Amino acid sequence: MNSALQSPSLCKAYEPYFRIGAALSSRLIADPELAEIVCRHFSSITADNQMKPFSVLNLENTLAQGDPCHAAVDFTRVDALLSFARDHGIPVRYHTLAWHNQTPVWFFKEKWENDFSAPFASKEVMLARLENYILDVMSHVNTCFPGVVYTWDVVNEAIEPGQDGPGLYRTRSPWFMSTGQDFLPAAFRAARKGAAPGQTLCYNDYNAFDPIKRDAIIDMLKTLQAEGLVDTMGMQGHYVLQDLNVAACETAARAYAALGLKLQVTELDIHCNSDDAAHATALTEAYRSWFTMMKQLKAEGIDIEAVTFWGVTDADSWLPGFRREPSFPLLISADRKAKPAFEAVLEAARS
Ligand code: XIL
Repeated sequence: MNSALQSPSLCKAYEPYFRIGAALSSRLIADPELAEIVCRHFSSITADNQMKPFSVLNLENTLAQGDPCHAAVDFTRVDALLSFARDHGIPVRYHTLAWHNQTPVWFFKEKWENDFSAPFASKEVMLARLENYILDVMSHVNTCFPGVVYTWDVVNEAIEPGQDGPGLYRTRSPWFMSTGQDFLPAAFRAARKGAAPGQTLCYNDYNAFDPIKRDAIIDMLKTLQAEGLVDTMGMQGHYVLQDLNVAACETAARAYAALGLKLQVTELDIHCNSDDAAHATALTEAYRSWFTMMKQLKAEGIDIEAVTFWGVTDADSWLPGFRREPSFPLLISADRKAKPAFEAVLEAARS
């Protein structure tokens, strides 16, 4: 296998179709060789963690500020990634504004208590906190880094039909527990207010290919669309090699596009728990058929903006931690070589 720095550029190969993106960590942008790999192969970037609420919200300053409706924000980590993007001329998708996960518990509590058992703030207070947070982030980003962010993940993972109780929504989310489903349109209304011209607003979720979840997401998207609040559906794209169902991905992508939305695949990886020859071949063919399908959809006129990998090399994938077993899910190996799957994705662009 060749170094990923010798391989033809992935994003150039896909230029006629859609952007190819990657999620970056702070460690990654500090490593000159990895930064070079990013600049060569990716035409869209996002942050794996630095832009999430837990990375931005600051408890000490919030308490000092003494405003029950307004949390204090600290953009040190956000700015590091946005500076990298601006300096290298790579547009950014901001991930993410409202999420049940990786948002500190105190953000939801009446007196900002860092304590799960403390009472939730009232719905009115939570909706005010949400709007203030979203407007603070968007105004900072758009003022200090104009033109760098092109799309916002406004709400992440709000739909979970059946598993969490009856109905469409993830009811065990602190957002749902404090506001019911109202945080969803409220987040999008705030984001519409804060967005710069041309920036798109995205709803993002995992297992978006699953027919039951897909239909639930579509019902929810229609309610947002009735108010003109959403532009893009983000299908995360965390797949498992043995279970990957390309036809189901295609059906779902067509269904979201039929709503008149743009599409992004926002967090692509294919969990593969061995790097022996048989697994490497299966991974290669899975990526080949998935990208061939996506290219075909684009050729038919479906508005796919970008396909973003969740990581750059296998060494920085989140999957070994999440799955508690080895994983070799990306196109570039831990030692920074272009895997056969990389070549297959390039071939899919050319064929
Ligand atoms: C993951 C990060 O990659 C990990 O480093 C972190 O520990 C947990 O979150 N869906 C999402 C992403 O929307 O934000 C998650 O990222 C992966 C699943």
